[in-house]
Amino acid sequence: MIKRFSTSLAIVAAGSLVAGAVWAGVAQPWQEEDGRRGTSSVAVDATAIGPDDEAVLASERARQTSTAEVLDISLTAAPATIDLGDQTVETWAFNGTVPGPEIRLQAGNVLRAEVRNNLPEPLTIHWHGIALRNDMDGVPGLTQDPIAPGATSTYEFTVPDPGTYFYHPHTGTQLDRGLYGALIVEDDVSASDSGADDVTVLLDDWIDGTGLDPDDVLQGLTSGAAAEHDMDAMGDMDMDATDGMEMGMATPERPLGGDTSDVDYPLYLINGRSTPELAVEPSSTTRLRLINAGADTPFRVAVGGAQLTVVATDGFPVRPVTVDSLVIGMGERYDVMVDVPEGPGLPLVAAVEGGDGGPAALLRSGPGEIVSETPRPAELGGELLSLDDLVATEAVALPDGAPGRTYEIGLEGDMETYRWALDAPQDEGVTLPVRTGQRVRLVLRNETMMWHPIHLHGHTFETVIDGKPGARKDTVIVPPMESVTVDFVADNPGSWAIHCHNIYHAEAGMQTVLSYVR
Ligand code: C2O
Ligand code: CU
Repeated sequence: MIKRFSTSLAIVAAGSLVAGAVWAGVAQPWQEEDGRRGTSSVAVDATAIGPDDEAVLASERARQTSTAEVLDISLTAAPATIDLGDQTVETWAFNGTVPGPEIRLQAGNVLRAEVRNNLPEPLTIHWHGIALRNDMDGVPGLTQDPIAPGATSTYEFTVPDPGTYFYHPHTGTQLDRGLYGALIVEDDVSASDSGADDVTVLLDDWIDGTGLDPDDVLQGLTSGAAAEHDMDAMGDMDMDATDGMEMGMATPERPLGGDTSDVDYPLYLINGRSTPELAVEPSSTTRLRLINAGADTPFRVAVGGAQLTVVATDGFPVRPVTVDSLVIGMGERYDVMVDVPEGPGLPLVAAVEGGDGGPAALLRSGPGEIVSETPRPAELGGELLSLDDLVATEAVALPDGAPGRTYEIGLEGDMETYRWALDAPQDEGVTLPVRTGQRVRLVLRNETMMWHPIHLHGHTFETVIDGKPGARKDTVIVPPMESVTVDFVADNPGSWAIHCHNIYHAEAGMQTVLSYVR
């Protein structure tokens, strides 16, 4: 297993930090280039529809209904001491808990979140996956000024679509601390339930407070120490270049290719614990809402003794597909139905894809010991979900139509320099210009030897599989050296970030902007 950055290496890297090292906090590629970022193409100019444009307010008014209720919440981001089960750490958290509070509301209602920043750094919050008004999207330097340390700011927006979402900061590496929580927009099914058989499963990779923080990790990855380490590892493995290429490509068993993550985390968590118990109703069908809130780790999820029926991804329903396991990338969500039989319950395992370990939870439905043959249930090696299997339900499928605009976006970068980029075309003075009403096609062409989960803000696109419509998603895995095509309808004016949801790739430059123009 090649790791660009192991925990032991990190100590060395952190030791070489110079005082006053560049803080990666709010610098984004559309603000300024700094030498260690890849060169993503970004241009936003006067013709672009910005967050304060009247068109943004008009789209919000169109979402509002006369019966909408307002859910008021308050979130305080602050340093906190958190018990992760195996270890107690100093980290940053919302309202003193990891994960942060779960937010639940009905589609069509308004979320009003008062956010207090008690961190030593600026903060913004992004409501991942929600098709919200552009000025509430939480991207510093693009849709808002960040909330200064000590300041308070309010986000208020209509939540249009039911589904499984989450919230996290969009400032620097803060997502890799304890700053994330589930955002569940209820549909008729979940609303009528008691909640016991609707279980949120937030997956995370954890390093903060174990001797290093995420800024040390970023520094280590971009400092070049990582590349040396990587070359050592390659040397040890004694292989020629052809083997290396083959090792890198995706296969049915290894859908992300041979190089799955950059950081060897000391801890992996479900709902803030390595081995939590999650209460479920006995002999019932339970909906698991899987959310990968990790910064750098894909997980392969399975339940020992049960299959997973996938009913939604990234909030939007799909025609049900039953499999033994699925791989979930950072920023992705899957809703799966699991039959829990009479008895004490079943083990839920989230194995680190292409690595070792991972958290495991007990889906607890009664007293007694839950016996799992092995810590890695056979289902992990069973039938694996493929993106090609997923088709949106009729209710949420995009209307038929040919794209009015097609853009090819190059995913670029390499492990040696640790500079990552999205190479997107410019036209009319802006990057990726689109017009309201247009059907837009994005061809995501991965020119790197690593997979990337690419996330578009403010929209839920539809995957195009062999020319046919697939699932609605907002975050899609692009395997090494492969292309993935997605279509969306431009119906939410503003300037929208598009980036890799590996937080370290994004911070190293793998982000750009899609801009509505008049
Ligand atoms: Cu969850 Cu811009 O990301
Ligand atoms: Cu990436």
